[in-house]
Amino acid sequence: MQNLTRLIKKTINLWIKSQAPTQKLTNIKKIDRFLILLICVIISIITSYEYVTKPIQNIDFIISVIINFFEVFICCGVLVYISKKEEPTINSRQIFLLIGLLLTVLILKINLKTISPLSIIVPPTLIISQGMGTTIALSWVSIALINWPNSPNGMNEYLLLTTFVSSCIVAILSGKIRSRAQLLQVSILVPLGAFIGQYFFLGIDNNNLYNFNIQNIVSKQGNIVSDTFLLAALMLLAIICMPILESIFGLVTKARLLELADQEKPLLRKLSIEAPGTFEHTLLLCGLAEEATRTIGGNVDLVRTGALYHDIGKLHAPNWFIENQNGSSNPHDELDNPFESAKILQDHVDKGIQIARKYRLPKPVANFIPEHQGTLKMGYFLFKAKEKDKNISENNFKYKGPIPQSKETAILMLADGCEAALRAMDINASDKEALKIISKIINSRIQDGQLLDSNFSRGEIYLIKISFLNVWKRVRHRRIQYPTAKNNSFT
Ligand SMILES: [Fe+2]
Ligand SMILES: [Fe+2]
Repeated sequence: MQNLTRLIKKTINLWIKSQAPTQKLTNIKKIDRFLILLICVIISIITSYEYVTKPIQNIDFIISVIINFFEVFICCGVLVYISKKEEPTINSRQIFLLIGLLLTVLILKINLKTISPLSIIVPPTLIISQGMGTTIALSWVSIALINWPNSPNGMNEYLLLTTFVSSCIVAILSGKIRSRAQLLQVSILVPLGAFIGQYFFLGIDNNNLYNFNIQNIVSKQGNIVSDTFLLAALMLLAIICMPILESIFGLVTKARLLELADQEKPLLRKLSIEAPGTFEHTLLLCGLAEEATRTIGGNVDLVRTGALYHDIGKLHAPNWFIENQNGSSNPHDELDNPFESAKILQDHVDKGIQIARKYRLPKPVANFIPEHQGTLKMGYFLFKAKEKDKNISENNFKYKGPIPQSKETAILMLADGCEAALRAMDINASDKEALKIISKIINSRIQDGQLLDSNFSRGEIYLIKISFLNVWKRVRHRRIQYPTAKNNSFT
């Protein structure tokens, strides 16, 4: 019996642990919370609108209206809860988009009774899935389809089924799609699939097919040809509007991350020309961070883009950083002031945040700039300062933080620490020696409390170490020169 109680307790603890968000929740202002609540109430009232317009019949009728109101209100609350849990960094603008789309769907549903639910539900699903991920999009679809439709004409339940299946397919595919070209394919294939589905379920009236005209698209119910055209057109419109929505609501789609990771972007070109050493460091870091993130199942596109921009602040004074000095004299030696040198190091974070704002980098990407340094000590300058005065405060030689708030930024911090050590390693060093160095650096970050907010498990830390080792082995392999034939010809 005791064993059973212990097992139940253990299971409950495990469940509670699994429910804890991996990232700190974004704080939402009181006024935004009030507006979100207000929109949820409006959605609930609008959904009950159909009942209220009918004359009040009896007490059962009133109760059913009240139940309907609270049902929809709770559903809106659940949607907001799921979105915050699934995407802890979600901001108030994105929640407004989520429930705003729900409100728009309901208004369209009431005012355009002839329009197919396919055309109203599927395009917003595409936007949500691209911007906030598959899980939030699937939750949105489930809630948007609740009580659909209250249309007096009634709608075929097969049409609802087709809508649900099409929306789920869009939610799942769009969450994974990495290019706008693939999105265009989806906007053609999904309407086609929906057409075939409706054809099998509902059949097609030949008059509908041959009497097709533009007016039918919104005015005639049940014309599956016009429904298909309208769906395709609205999906294309959603794709065209995506870049605008990205900048208004701060959405970070995979396509946006890929665009930002293009090394021909002006800011990255500037880094490669004005700070070539930092750019080289960035490229090797990308390899390390990508491999580790892939191994633990994190967001590879985000970590790649974050890595490319993490040291962008070094552009303010490239020659103050050793990787750009290229054998010339070190200005820190001439300065001979550890406090000033520490300020210059902190500046690469502060100026980086300013540059990120100027170039409108999305917040999840800009977060890599302060979090890759966390609250680490500037060891070399602290040592120099302590040589002059032993009672010096360590706080003057610590980065301002915050410590990494996500697994991706934490991986970048670990890769940043290991990169220089691995680059400097002897080409003939064994795997064991390399792993020892990697473990030493990672363990020092753990002991320093830098990974407290990133919720890594021990297994994940082990996988990160092994993936760093694998990347180092690849790089070492490239550096080993192949023997050349004596007559300089290869066979
Ligand atoms: Fe840095
Ligand atoms: Fe760096």
